[in-house]
Amino acid sequence: MSEQKSFSSNLGAIMAAVGSAVGLGNIWRFPYITGKYGGGAFLIVYLFFVFLLGSVLMMSELVIGRRTRCTPIKAYTSLATKGQKGLWRVLGWLCVVTSFFILSQYLVLSGWTTGYVWHSVSGSLAALGTDASLIADFFRLFSTGGWNPVWYMVAFSALVLIVIFGGVQKGVELASKVLMPILVVLILVLCVRSLTLPGSMRGVEYLFSPDFSKLTAEGILAALGQALFSLSVGMGVMVVYGSYLPANDNIFKTAMWITACDTLIALLAGLAIFPAVFSCGFDPAGGPGLVFCVLPNVFNSMGTAGAVFSMVFFLLLLVAALTSAISLLECLTACICEATARPDGKSGMRRWQGALLFFLLTTALGAVFTLSFSHLSGVKIADLSLFDFIDRINSIYLPPICALCTTIFFGWVMPEADVRDEFTSHGAHRVRLYGAVRFLARYVAPLALLIVLVTGIFMN
Ligand code: PFF
Repeated sequence: MSEQKSFSSNLGAIMAAVGSAVGLGNIWRFPYITGKYGGGAFLIVYLFFVFLLGSVLMMSELVIGRRTRCTPIKAYTSLATKGQKGLWRVLGWLCVVTSFFILSQYLVLSGWTTGYVWHSVSGSLAALGTDASLIADFFRLFSTGGWNPVWYMVAFSALVLIVIFGGVQKGVELASKVLMPILVVLILVLCVRSLTLPGSMRGVEYLFSPDFSKLTAEGILAALGQALFSLSVGMGVMVVYGSYLPANDNIFKTAMWITACDTLIALLAGLAIFPAVFSCGFDPAGGPGLVFCVLPNVFNSMGTAGAVFSMVFFLLLLVAALTSAISLLECLTACICEATARPDGKSGMRRWQGALLFFLLTTALGAVFTLSFSHLSGVKIADLSLFDFIDRINSIYLPPICALCTTIFFGWVMPEADVRDEFTSHGAHRVRLYGAVRFLARYVAPLALLIVLVTGIFMN
């Protein structure tokens, strides 16, 4: 098994990082929260957060990773000053814990997506016709169907595991290079279909026309949370990908490319979904209902061609989920291999062992969260089902805490000379906006993240 620990080219690195960023968050979550919190009004705030804070966090993580060529655990400790190493080691481990819980929860939705790919291919979704209550019942029965959705989830995680077994270049990078172009083609096909349906402009209006009355404080928090989640920052994944970046890669440009591609795909997803929903006369629902209840109805109301579009859509969702889950398992695998390596330089856990270990652990926990909709629905923590509980931890606490600590580390702890040297690839690139990035990383990002963290905790 390949143990090569870098991407082969700058393009490969961008593809892998875009693969991580583009996921269920773009295609399913972004469109409905944009609609919910005021369309264009939300979009302005989102773009502001993504480009001003998200991209800066991404640059910070990539710089930390490439500077040290280590995973978060060692990266933070090796750059910290002597007396502080123990403290920053905690942040490294917190990133591991965050990736672990995020992946376990992500697997639940990915398992449902895998199930829906199968049901759209087998024709059972099409057979439901356009009866909204039948389609909603189908989803209810599927998601509460005990072990059935768990097997789909196991199939999905097994695919992820196979890619990680392939190594960094022949697994992660190759999968991203193959899957990302497929994703772009699929989403464009859906956009063209959706935008050419009669009455589709109402969907475009819903997505883009600004309604500032819907942009509440909660909406602003949601925008920042979505910006971080969508760019896969605040959990160490980009530190690991940074450690695989070619030495001459211009980190500023790479981060901007990833941010732009991620945002573009999210906008395209909105354009693929809402025009079709409105054209077919449905109400845009929030949460899982949009993808698993409203969209099957939209597809079924398109006649025979709808069955094909249904397959295309769920395949798109699957591809997006795959490359994101790959990045999370890659992060966990790299971390455990590095953490178990012996001080004499002898390797500790092998790559395949680390991947298998985290595959087993996250799949087992994912199964528990999946079963919290059925057999384990009676188990509650703080009055919440297990899935809702982990959802809260994963949105309000862990990523914002990691992101906040990362900006503090990057802006205030990591030596400035190291930051500048890495940013410019040892003087090879001139980054004109370096001063602005530094200012955002030192002052704006920590303050914004602190506000998000505190209000998030108090509002819930
Ligand atoms: N960015 C992914 C999405 O939008 O679905 C989710 C994600 C992947 C978050 C990897 C974090 C991560 F480390």
